Amino acid sequence: MLRGMFSEIRERLEAGYTLPAGWYSDSAILALERERIFKHTWQYACATAQVSEPGDYFATKAGSIPVVLVRDKGGELKGFVNVCRHRGHVVMQGSGHRETLQCPYHAWTYGLDGCLLKAPRSEREPGFDSDNYSLFPVQVGTWGPFIYVNADLEADSLEETLGVLPETVAETGIDLDSLKFHHRGEYVIEANWKIAVENYLECYHCPVAHTGFSSVINVDPDEYALASSGYVSTQKGPVRSSVLEGKKAAPYDATGEIDRSTSVFVFPNFTVDIIPGPPNMNGGAWFPIDERRTLGTYDYFFSEDVPQKTVEEMIAFNEQVGAEDNSLVESVHAGLESGMVEHGRLLPTSEHLIQHFQRLIYSYLS
Ligand code: FES
Ligand SMILES: [Fe+2]
Repeated sequence: MLRGMFSEIRERLEAGYTLPAGWYSDSAILALERERIFKHTWQYACATAQVSEPGDYFATKAGSIPVVLVRDKGGELKGFVNVCRHRGHVVMQGSGHRETLQCPYHAWTYGLDGCLLKAPRSEREPGFDSDNYSLFPVQVGTWGPFIYVNADLEADSLEETLGVLPETVAETGIDLDSLKFHHRGEYVIEANWKIAVENYLECYHCPVAHTGFSSVINVDPDEYALASSGYVSTQKGPVRSSVLEGKKAAPYDATGEIDRSTSVFVFPNFTVDIIPGPPNMNGGAWFPIDERRTLGTYDYFFSEDVPQKTVEEMIAFNEQVGAEDNSLVESVHAGLESGMVEHGRLLPTSEHLIQHFQRLIYSYLS
């Protein structure tokens, strides 16, 4: 029966329809997504600046898997499943600097290499061999200022997953080495994570819903370029000449080395955004909390010589767009959950990145 259902969905996707509305509020679908997508794909963890010195750690999640990143004594970046081998308490919280990783429940203590160093009272247990209880490793990879993890030790390489991301960012002219981590922000939206992604993947709504953004970026369908290949989708929109020439008031000063907006999505949930103006970058991700709630994170980077006032204006510009998006996404969730519109109808010329995303979701789940 399931096979019949899946083949029908595939046909609908190819005909320009969306995934079934029920897939956006069904806990069984989310369980399948966690198992088949989040456990096997590269997940954005944090900025390299957050784990830069030996002894630094950063606790995060890869989908629903708690993960801790550590810079070991030799300066190597390591990642572990952040679940105690004793009885499963999460070992490390937040971030900081430590010689060892200690679980707060019964004080089992692990080295920065994940090995169990000390389990109180274990010497009373005949045959207890601490070598058997190291933290489980995860794969760790970096690109530019970003650290990624993958719980699947057999998964495709990070390089393969990131595909055209490095060259797309290079095309903007940004020197990644000039960027400094500014801060991380977080927010919760009352919507399924896929709705947040799908909203990101089209700018059909920009002239309607993002008047500020559209006053800076040319979102005309003949100017705003969409492309997808493999796990990566890109959107590029030139800055409006009226803004550069100062003919129109703009929400921020968009003059600078970067002359276009570039948005890159890496399946299943990572984004890189660069807006016109001085060197800037924003790395974001969405993580399902449950089938109806999503945690969004974003990490800002600016080159050191960008004036503080410009940084603040660029952040305010992005936050305005983000707030507009979140309200759209929550409204779509409520509409889909009514169950009254089973399949939406995409306009593939403007929304083929959504189609690409949904095909990937479909292929992972089916
Ligand atoms: S669960 Fe970690 S020490 Fe007991
Ligand atoms: Fe948007």
